[in-house]
Amino acid sequence: MAANSLISTSIEHPPIELLSLLILDDERAVREGCRDAAVSLGYQTFVAENSEAAYKLLETHGIDVVMLDFKVSGSGGFELLREVKRRRPQAEVIVITSNATVESAVQAMKYGAYDYVTKPFDLDELKLLLGRVAGHVKLAIENRLLRQKIKSKEGLGNIVGRAPEMEKLYRFICKAASSTYPVLIHGESGTGKELVARSIHFSGPNHDKPFIPVDCGSLVPTLIESELFGYVKGAFTGANRSKEGLLSLANGGTVFLDEIGELGTDLQVKLLRALQEKEIRPVGATRPLPINVRILAATNRNLETAVEQGGFRKDLYFRLNVLSLRVPPLRERKQDIPLLVGHFLDRLSRLTGSQRIISDEALKIMLAYDWPGNVRELENCLERASAMSSGPLIHSGDLPTALQNAMRQQSSADMRQSTIIPIAQLEREAILNALRQLKGDKLEAAKKLGMGKTTLYRKIREYHLEDFGITM
Ligand SMILES: Nc1ncnc2c1ncn2[C@@H]1O[C@H](COP(=O)(O)OP(=O)(O)OP(=O)(O)O)[C@@H](O)[C@H]1O
Ligand SMILES: [Mg+2]
Repeated sequence: MAANSLISTSIEHPPIELLSLLILDDERAVREGCRDAAVSLGYQTFVAENSEAAYKLLETHGIDVVMLDFKVSGSGGFELLREVKRRRPQAEVIVITSNATVESAVQAMKYGAYDYVTKPFDLDELKLLLGRVAGHVKLAIENRLLRQKIKSKEGLGNIVGRAPEMEKLYRFICKAASSTYPVLIHGESGTGKELVARSIHFSGPNHDKPFIPVDCGSLVPTLIESELFGYVKGAFTGANRSKEGLLSLANGGTVFLDEIGELGTDLQVKLLRALQEKEIRPVGATRPLPINVRILAATNRNLETAVEQGGFRKDLYFRLNVLSLRVPPLRERKQDIPLLVGHFLDRLSRLTGSQRIISDEALKIMLAYDWPGNVRELENCLERASAMSSGPLIHSGDLPTALQNAMRQQSSADMRQSTIIPIAQLEREAILNALRQLKGDKLEAAKKLGMGKTTLYRKIREYHLEDFGITM
């Protein structure tokens, strides 16, 4: 199976019939209108004419979407919204409003409402909105399940990242974990290839079996051979007892071959044979030994080019590349930098017992930097900056000079000329910039940016701008 098809195949969404929608409105005609629209889309639909009935349903029926009349008699709209969110935080709320109360419906979105709909309804618009919220809820459920699945196993809560590329990666890990095919993990140095390999192993059915990393880049060939395949007593000078090879020792587990591109030609042949025959011949042994091991491999070189140039065997490349994925470099997912910074600083605080937080100016520099050493460089940078800082706040002056210089040298104009910037990134920057300049005034920002308020709220959530202190 080609890796790309695997990456693009998402885990099945829960069908819309499994989503439940609650309509709270004291006008019967509105309840029935909404119910008909929701039922026609396949929602399981419940109705309530007052808040008590709605709360009961929320507690017992696992509601996913709530349509909420802000003017339902006997309760304040915001209080209702807060109660609904308190009782069922994962439910998305659509506020039902009249033209006279649109302002408060917009305000409601700050308090976590997904969107609003104005009475009298345009049926097509209502259906579109219900379809859109269903897509959103299904994705949220899917991501929650993935995260639970990944995080429930040993050491896997350590992968940090919410960028779309990372969500793709989580999906891939879940799929790859349940198969036994080799996986070839591509990615620049420090992007987290080993972390991904661990996740694949520890999320799979053999997570209680060994995970053995072998660095093919730093060991001399003879050592790699005796490590991987083992040897028998007397095989060479100094071999005064037999040693079991890691490929056999893993026994049901995983051997992770890091820097596989550095493996010499002889060893490539031996490894290929081991993968094909599912047996190995320890150095000096006359008989082969059966093995039961999954191979995961990683490379920061372009192996296809190495194959074309004759440095890497094509047949071995195809054997290893049954499934493959690319771990994105940090510069392609800069929106994850604040999360990663928070993650590493928390970890450092736990280790050292002293709390560290990043200042706005330091974070700005980190966001502008390109991180050629990726997440590892970021981790090291924070370790050093924490050691340099005199108090809990890390200032720009505590950052390594490489970062400070890069910031000085690289005017944003240069950056724009030398890189092709995705439109989504430009949009995100424009929104962030507007909100900062306007001190968080979203209505004004929406006006100046030339976009609808609803769109702006959605974009803030989509781009995770809450991580930058933008409140909803
Ligand atoms: N997404 C991530 N979330 C949290 N930590 C990460 C992430 N990616 C990488 N790291 C951390 O960065 C460091 C480098 O990761 P790792 O060793 O997996 O990278 P690598 O791609 O194997 O690097 P190399 O090519 O240099 O071997 C590790 O300490 C790892 O825990
Ligand atoms: Mg590595």
